[in-house]
Amino acid sequence: MAKRSPLPLEISGAELKESLALVAQRLGVFLDTVDAQPASQTDGAARLARALAEPLPERGSSLRNLLRILFEQVMPTALHTSGPGYLGYVPGGGLPMSAVADLIAGITNRYVGLWMAAPGLVALETNVIRWFCAMAGLPERAGGVLTSGGSIANLIAVVTARRERLPVNFLSGTLYTSAHAHHSVRKAAMLAGFPAENVREIALDAQFRMRTDLLLERIAADRAAGLTPFCVVASAGTTAMGAVDPLPAIAAICEAQGLWLHVDAAYGGFFLLTERGSNALAGIDRADSITLDPHKGLFLPYGTGCILVREKERLQRAHSVSADYLPPPQTAEDRWDFAEMGPELSRDARGLRIWLPMKLAGAGAFRAQLDEKLDLARAAVEVVRSHARLEVVAEPTLSLFAFRVRGDEAATRALMSAINQRQRVFLTGVPVEGGLAIRVCVLSFRTHAAHMKHFAEDLEAALYR
Ligand SMILES: Cc1ncc(COP(=O)(O)O)c(C=O)c1O
Repeated sequence: MAKRSPLPLEISGAELKESLALVAQRLGVFLDTVDAQPASQTDGAARLARALAEPLPERGSSLRNLLRILFEQVMPTALHTSGPGYLGYVPGGGLPMSAVADLIAGITNRYVGLWMAAPGLVALETNVIRWFCAMAGLPERAGGVLTSGGSIANLIAVVTARRERLPVNFLSGTLYTSAHAHHSVRKAAMLAGFPAENVREIALDAQFRMRTDLLLERIAADRAAGLTPFCVVASAGTTAMGAVDPLPAIAAICEAQGLWLHVDAAYGGFFLLTERGSNALAGIDRADSITLDPHKGLFLPYGTGCILVREKERLQRAHSVSADYLPPPQTAEDRWDFAEMGPELSRDARGLRIWLPMKLAGAGAFRAQLDEKLDLARAAVEVVRSHARLEVVAEPTLSLFAFRVRGDEAATRALMSAINQRQRVFLTGVPVEGGLAIRVCVLSFRTHAAHMKHFAEDLEAALYR
């Protein structure tokens, strides 16, 4: 046993190794049973939450005891969002080697807000952003920052669009998005200072994509009313149905009308690594800004989003504020000060979370995973189609589709609940005209054909019980 440090916050290398061994033992069991854990386990949730409330502890406890509480009491009651059966909302998974990168970043605690404080780490994170810009087809002068998620990326996009396209008094500005855009788009507009009525939700076509004829009409009507249309937020993979808005047509409208085009590709963006995904997202390279969410399509642990902007200077114009206690901003093109490009000053070295697994496995491993998800969704929708009582509501443009029991909302609800009760897969629903549709979103790196077989079996069992 390592000698205990007299200062409990300043542990030695030997003590760290001992602690990590205990943690690794628990995490090893977690990983080795990740397939067998229930896809959702929420019984007794309120009781558990109440039991965990506690006052500030004055004295310390042993790590062994705290790990027991965490892994045996706290963690099991949850949606198993890192498991292979998680097909609800938008999965991701939680790549273990990303978490290892977090550990390195946290213990070394280098500062990546400003280039001068950790030029090497900033260079790695800059590489990551440049990989993403190249994947999206953005020009050399593009830039971006890693955020905590897609919502903050959408907020940065709307603030940058507002700064670039509207006067200081911007309240006549109107923003256009589809009725199925993620709610973080409306939230972003609200946080950027726009009243809710300045957000136009354009109706959808039969494939749940934004109708560009109605977009054009609404822009014209708003101009006629003295308002200032300034931004269109298109979705490249809606959360509800996985639909990709018609990006080339929307880009043409934005170019002709001088509007900022933001593409929310939080769910769909990383399918750009695949040929089918690139085809589905054609036109994204014409965007002024793009939201990506590595904690979805790159399978990272929660806490990593990304905003890309066609011209890095625009991001800087919207976020740069000087302070005399900070060093002057870097001017060389390849020296990025992330604090100058987003709302955060101090933050974690989150680029490592992407850099480490990408360098270890190579982009090909991610591409293969994403291709597999496209295949799995296509196979699963055929399973649904083979049941006469079911109808497909949304086809899988990417890896998400939706279905329901023909003409029977109560039966659709009961079907989803019966499938979820089996605890092998977890599905969520979405409101559609005439009731509810059940969504299937295949995106975890742990989901393979065997797990989709669970979906097929449990669907059939619940349907004919
Ligand atoms: C299309 C889309 N945009 C934005 C978001 C918000 O992302 P985050 O939850 O990372 O803030 C989501 C989340 O599911 C999403 O699916």
